[in-house]
Amino acid sequence: MIAIGCDHGGYDLKQEIMAHLEERGLEYKDYGCYSDESVDYPVYAKAVGNAIVSGECERGILICGTGVGISISANKIKGIRAALCGDCFTAQETRAHNNSNIVAIGARVTGTGLALKIVDTFLDTPFSNEERHIRRIKQIED
Ligand code: RB5
Repeated sequence: MIAIGCDHGGYDLKQEIMAHLEERGLEYKDYGCYSDESVDYPVYAKAVGNAIVSGECERGILICGTGVGISISANKIKGIRAALCGDCFTAQETRAHNNSNIVAIGARVTGTGLALKIVDTFLDTPFSNEERHIRRIKQIED
């Protein structure tokens, strides 16, 4: 199950991403927000982050205007590794090297077509499981 959340700046892109996940037959849970009315992004970062650390969802997608505020917020939660991605290379590397569990996207920065490819890359790339990457992730946790 994929957790998805956004603030008002990411609302329209979240709708596009959810339609894309449906087309791919992927299950998701929408943690809001539910309109483009102004809201506070930490609320949605917390909801999606908690869904992952509780085990309810495996991966998360967070969207705000730049992707910065919502990724900073999510990374305050122990066990969350949120990666702000504006390109597919970063999305692939952060899965393989950092075992990131949330991809953050800036809707005012990244166009819809690229955002969907970033989401696909993030969801489809496994963690490398290489010893050096496991060691570094453990150091982050410690
Ligand atoms: C909201 O206007 C905007 O500040 C927010 O979406 C995000 O870009 C913050 O980092």
